[in-house]
Amino acid sequence: KMTAWYNGSFIDPDTAVIPIQERGHQFGDGIYEVIRVYSGMPFAMEDHLDRLEKSAAAVRLTLPMPREELEALLLEALERSGGEEAEIYLQITRGIHPRNHAFPKEDRPALSIIVSPARVLPEEEQENGIRVITTEDKRWTQCWIKSLNLLPNVLAKQEAVEQGAREALLIRDGIVTEGSSTNVFLLRSGTLYTHPATEGILHGITRDRIIRAAAEADIPVVEETFTTDALFDAEEVFITSTTLEAAPVCEINGRTTGSSFPGTMKLRNLLQQQIRKE
Ligand code: PDD
Repeated sequence: KMTAWYNGSFIDPDTAVIPIQERGHQFGDGIYEVIRVYSGMPFAMEDHLDRLEKSAAAVRLTLPMPREELEALLLEALERSGGEEAEIYLQITRGIHPRNHAFPKEDRPALSIIVSPARVLPEEEQENGIRVITTEDKRWTQCWIKSLNLLPNVLAKQEAVEQGAREALLIRDGIVTEGSSTNVFLLRSGTLYTHPATEGILHGITRDRIIRAAAEADIPVVEETFTTDALFDAEEVFITSTTLEAAPVCEINGRTTGSSFPGTMKLRNLLQQQIRKE
């Protein structure tokens, strides 16, 4: 069952608990993580907490409790939920203070957690691919920070949905940066390409795991930028995230780009092996 925590206590997920003057609510002044749970076990928890610490430092936010306590609390929330195939969402904001752009004098970060059933991509799309569109990347320059400010991502995703697609690939100056909530890969002549882990993209944990899987499979990896045209020239395109794992792309902007995805499937299987091993 859905289980939630806000600022010191477990709460009913449907109860209103966020005060009007909460900085996450008013300014998007906070950061978040999404962790996937398989068979009751969180996957890559340490990687998510490492990234959370980096995002926190980047926006000068102190964590509300030591990392070990946070980890224990996430596990307690998971246990209370009884979730086997679940997602843990956590966010930390600069807390509850009268509205003023500058930081409050006192450090009182607020933590929310919600554990809910995992959203799983339908089998049909896992096998036959998903449709995506391309759209302009209108975000700020610090996309490596997992910030709550997701308005450009929300707008891009909605544009995709309205065109019958699942994801929007973001294009900045002709370069494919990433998806609105995913990282983007392409396979060409047996080599795997993905955008380098610069400040311009989120350093996806699944991205990292796929790069490891490629090493295991002796597939060369090139972390270099590529253009929109390269998407159409590729043998395979796929996108990755905590919730999607690795999903093949069959159509871009209404054009069919592929119908069989041997490389993607191989890497996805290796990722799933990593998941089962941990
Ligand atoms: N999204 N790029 C962006 C912009 C993202 O928001 C995400 C994750 C990713 C993939 O990162 P990871 O492999 O660590 O999940 C890439 C999460 C799942 C979300 O916002 O729901």
